Parts: sequence; C-alpha cells; structure tokens
Amino acid sequence: MAKIINGKEISGIIKDELKEQVKALNAEGKYPCLAVVLVGSDPASCVYVNNKKKGCEYVGIKSLSYELPEDTTEEKLLELIARLNANDEVNGILVQLPLPKHIDEDRVIKAISPDKDVDGFHPESVGRLSIGTKGYVSCTPAGIVQLLKRSNVETDGKECVIVGRSNIVGKPMALLMLRENATVTVCHSHTKNLQEICKRADILIAAVGKPKMIDASYVKEGATVIDVGIHRMEDGHLCGDVDFDSVESVAGAITPVPGGVGPMTIAMLLYNCVSYYL
Ligand code: GUN
Repeated sequence: MAKIINGKEISGIIKDELKEQVKALNAEGKYPCLAVVLVGSDPASCVYVNNKKKGCEYVGIKSLSYELPEDTTEEKLLELIARLNANDEVNGILVQLPLPKHIDEDRVIKAISPDKDVDGFHPESVGRLSIGTKGYVSCTPAGIVQLLKRSNVETDGKECVIVGRSNIVGKPMALLMLRENATVTVCHSHTKNLQEICKRADILIAAVGKPKMIDASYVKEGATVIDVGIHRMEDGHLCGDVDFDSVESVAGAITPVPGGVGPMTIAMLLYNCVSYYL
C-alpha cells in the first residue's frame, strides 16, 4: 500500500510557518499585501478567489479585493494593474484566470510588474526560473516540490516524468525538477509509448486534465505519484488524473484528490507574498 502524501496537512504546516514570519515582519513595520483581481463571476474562479482571500486572512496578509464586471474592458483592467504596480502598499498582484474572451490574457500577465508577480506567470519570472536566478515560481509546481521535500522523497539523480506541458504546471515543473537534480522527461498528447515512459519514472507527475487516465499500468513499483488533476464526477465526487484505487497498490507514495496538490497551491501563493520581504 502506498504512503499517502497529505497536502492538506503539509499546507497547514507551511501556513503556520508563514503566520509566524508575518508576525515578525509586522514587528519590523512590514505588512505583506496581496491585491486579488477577479473579472466576471465564473463560479469556480469565485471559489478559488475566496479561498485565496481566506488564506491571506489566516496568515495575516492583508488582501485587497477587486471584483470587476464581466464586460470590463481590457483597457480598464490594464489601468487597474498600472495603479496596483505603482501602489507601494501592494506587494503582490493576482489576476484570476481565465479572463473573459475579449481580454488578451498574455497582455494582462505582461502588465503585472515582475516584482509583484506572485503567480509567477510573467515571462520574466519564467525566464528567471529557467536560468536559475531569484524570482517568483508558479504556485502549483512550487507546492509539488514542497510536498516531495517534506515527505522525504529523494529527487537527486531520480527519473522524473511529467505528463502535461502547460505554461502553469508542466513546463515550470520540469524546470524545478531540473533544479532539484532530477532527470526530467516531459510527455504530452503527441508522445509515443506514453505508458512505457511513465513506467520508467521514480517520480511521476500527472497534469494531463483527463480523469483517472493514469492507472497502475503506467506506474513502476514503489514510484512516487503526484496527481495535479481535479475533476468533478457525475456522482459529485472529486477525482484526479490518476486512478487512485488502481495506482495505490503499486506506488510507494501518492497524493490524494482532494487533499493532495490542491491545498499546496494557495500555501505557495501566500509564501510568494511573504517572500517579497525575505
Ligand atoms: N486559475 C486557475 N489557477 C490559477 C492560478 O494559479 N492563478 C491564477 N491567477 N488564476 C488561476
């Protein structure tokens, strides 16, 4: 039976560490402050944004909320970002994605100052990550590295296979695992022999976006399996990209859904907000 990597518990420990750090910063007259921008009222985005604001409150980070109507123009949104960039009280800016179709997401991401880019989505943040200099790292991949480190999963010299090549997860994940001295393979929809490649992995990271796609036939005995997916099934239950019941008997360690990678994303967002001052 695989060891369960408990993201809820690990994220709780990180948030408690941050709470102490924020207290110490406050004592020096430094007050971390995150501006959260939501355009429209996509139900999933509203839930995410609320959880981010609650996380801020828990660790003592001030949060400013900007809830703009669905028909907000790109120009108006860019004006708000310019004001937040110039506001010394604000040290982190988060624009919740996806944005309504009439707004160019790339332009918005580029408008956020790289010094306040707590999502790590700005091309400069991605560039810094790729050459290994200091900068904000995308929260989900950064959270996965913390899950591995805090569960004592060795990465140095290990085979890491990532399934998925998105800008938010797959690509930054590959760069981070390289930084952790793993041998990294990135697979995607055009990859031949996916099963065979996944079976080589000591650490298998599934970020495909297909419910329960990765079953035991993709997993080497004793491998660590990280599940980034989150899907709601017809019966209302949540599941990941990994078929947990099938993989659990083969893997050495596995993240559950929910309670695995999900809670880590917010913990790392809060970490990014605080790290501005560290
Ligand atoms: N939408 C889904 N995930 C994210 C995230 O991590 N950051 C932002 N800004 N939007 C998202």
